[in-house]
Amino acid sequence: MAEQQRIVINGGKRLEGEISVQGAKNSALPLLAATVLCGGQSVLHNCPHLSDCDFACRILECLGCKCTREKNTVTVDSSVISGTEVPASLMREMRSSIIFLGSVLARCGHCRMSFPGGCELGPRPIDFHLSALREMGAQIDERHGYLECTAPKGLHGARITLSFSSVGATENIMLAASLAEGTTEIHNAAREPEIADLAAFLNKCGGKIKGAGESTVVIEGVKQLGACEHRIMPDRIAAATYLCCGAITGGELILTNADHDHLRPVIAVLERMACSIYTYGKGNVFINVRRPLVSPRTVRTNVHPGFPTDAQPPLMALTAVAEGTSVFVENIFENRFKHAGELVRLGANISVEGRVAVVIGTKKLLGAELVATDLRGGAALVTAALAAEGTSRITGLSHIDRGYENIEGVLRSVGADIVRK
Ligand code: EPZ
Repeated sequence: MAEQQRIVINGGKRLEGEISVQGAKNSALPLLAATVLCGGQSVLHNCPHLSDCDFACRILECLGCKCTREKNTVTVDSSVISGTEVPASLMREMRSSIIFLGSVLARCGHCRMSFPGGCELGPRPIDFHLSALREMGAQIDERHGYLECTAPKGLHGARITLSFSSVGATENIMLAASLAEGTTEIHNAAREPEIADLAAFLNKCGGKIKGAGESTVVIEGVKQLGACEHRIMPDRIAAATYLCCGAITGGELILTNADHDHLRPVIAVLERMACSIYTYGKGNVFINVRRPLVSPRTVRTNVHPGFPTDAQPPLMALTAVAEGTSVFVENIFENRFKHAGELVRLGANISVEGRVAVVIGTKKLLGAELVATDLRGGAALVTAALAAEGTSRITGLSHIDRGYENIEGVLRSVGADIVRK
């Protein structure tokens, strides 16, 4: 078996410089799914080079679309959809492939995909997706691990109330409703910035979506959607991660191509930790740390505009070296503290009890051998290793590469002693 790649970090280097924030993975994926709705060539700019985006393009090709990439621009020609099945292998690789269900069903009236299955964060159920699509007229049989979905009379509008503001379910409903007969209302919709980015794309294609970003989204179905050109929003979680990397090294970073508004919940917590953060011009966020980091006390993850669950792992790494005790309450996923055990190997003082983790700040972390077991947990290990004395080696890079474009190159460009080998 090929020798596992690893990231090797010699910690203690102060980060200083400028990072241009990548395009948002969690917007690119629903936008790639949305291209299925539009006949013709859609062009997505600022699409990050990530394995998850590659998987999404492979799914599009299985459906008969043509995908080409020129640097960070992906063009999808969905004039002809020749298939309506998402292969099990790709569903297993990327459980968020469920996001294709709404658009394939709306465009073709049929879709077959295997149950996405769980991931490192927990079972990742899709009941909200399925019940909403059934309310819109879909027939969905769950048999032998497969979803057989048809819409014999096409999809129709519905008034849907989500019991939880699920990001993926909100997106799937918006995609399906765009071509449905009549109007769909989503109540208790997710308000994450990626929802507004998806609505902007669909409206450019001729869709009629109002209220994206608010708790009630109204979609008036149209007969057909054309293709369009769109720039994907900045990745607020990658930006949050790099802010934590700058802070943990006592450094000074400027993030460009960021969106300050999307980062408000994260900036509020970092400022509580004695980080100085300024925003200026279009999309520039400056961070420096002039005083010792202090605990932010309690951090509760929540739906937007609450503190984002995806930023919890890198922030936990930062609190491991902050003065005082921090308490994390993970309200979104049931098993999202797996990085805690690896941070303890660096010398962090963390105890986990169910959805609560208690971090007692320590003065020093010492380099160690670490294993990433999920995307944002891997980012937490990189963050902590930057501050740990000595050498850390991190494996499990396929997790990190799902969501961070060239993470070692980005960090090396601002002074980190980091290589992939
Ligand atoms: C999206 O996942 C993101 N992924 C996740 O980012 C992010 O953590 C999550 O939203 C929350 O913000 C993408 O956008 C591709 P949810 P999603 O539906 O849509 C439960 C990352 O690291 N639930 O809002 O799957 C679910 O189990 C990833 O970039 C149901 O019970 O999130 C979870 O506990 C990780 N039934 C909670 O809701 C359902 O039908 C949040 O799920 C759907 C979800």
